[in-house]
Amino acid sequence: MHTINRLTELRQQVREWHRQGLEVGFVPTMGSLHDGHLALVKAARARSDRVVVSIFVNPMQFGPGEDFDSYPRTLDADCAQLLPLGVDAVFAPPVREVYPDGDQLSTRVEVPGLSDILCGSYRPGHFVGVATVVAKMFNMVAPDLAVFGKKDYQQLAVIRRMVRDLNFPVQVVGVDTVREGDGLARSSRNAYLSAEERETASQIYATLREAAEWLKAGPADVAALEAWGRERLDGRGFRTDYFSIRRQADLQPPAPGDRELVILTAARLGSARLIDNLEVSLPGPLA
Ligand code: PAF
Repeated sequence: MHTINRLTELRQQVREWHRQGLEVGFVPTMGSLHDGHLALVKAARARSDRVVVSIFVNPMQFGPGEDFDSYPRTLDADCAQLLPLGVDAVFAPPVREVYPDGDQLSTRVEVPGLSDILCGSYRPGHFVGVATVVAKMFNMVAPDLAVFGKKDYQQLAVIRRMVRDLNFPVQVVGVDTVREGDGLARSSRNAYLSAEERETASQIYATLREAAEWLKAGPADVAALEAWGRERLDGRGFRTDYFSIRRQADLQPPAPGDRELVILTAARLGSARLIDNLEVSLPGPLA
């Protein structure tokens, strides 16, 4: 497994693989790897001849006052986890390699209608930062396939739309969320939770599941269910940003006739902001 810091070296390597007719799978990460990331790497490994994992804490997707400086950076431990999975190259560029002129780029990728809703309205500019760096990474790595977690459901939707709208020749694969035994979604930010908060955090998934059962039992009052979810989490000690039921396809509010829904939530607990979601397929069309 090579660790590559320079774009020229990365390009040379991928060009050589492509020349040999090999398919390249890509897993973009910000490091601090856990089982959720490893599941993405395994999915890329199973679907491609060569696997590149990027480890880059992207300044452009953090807002003022967010955790860019304190975000855990654990490159050696990350590489030790990737080695046994058969990763071929880790791309770990310094910030100036990705943003030679600083991260206030003149060219930015925005996906209106998806970048600015849900988490986007609580973290202005976040998804512009994500879409821009992923577009840059796609141009740097030139992968045939890229793997993202469904844990970041809105991020996956933004990237799928970007790929479609801008004709990136990249197949996007979404992988199911990896959870702890009590249902908490694996996240690098779980490290911010105290022992007591960690126990409370399992309520997010429990609440999503209960809401999903109600939805499936129907007929559902979507607005009432959203209010119930928010109140339930607030009552357990969270500061809930949103608890929303949306369509899987475009993350818009559901309309009569829809069946493929997703419940998404973001809630703050102590210094952590946790996100999670649950896809729901209704047994019949929404009334
Ligand atoms: O999901 C993440 O870790 C990041 O948002 C990503 C996709 C690596 C872009 O920086």
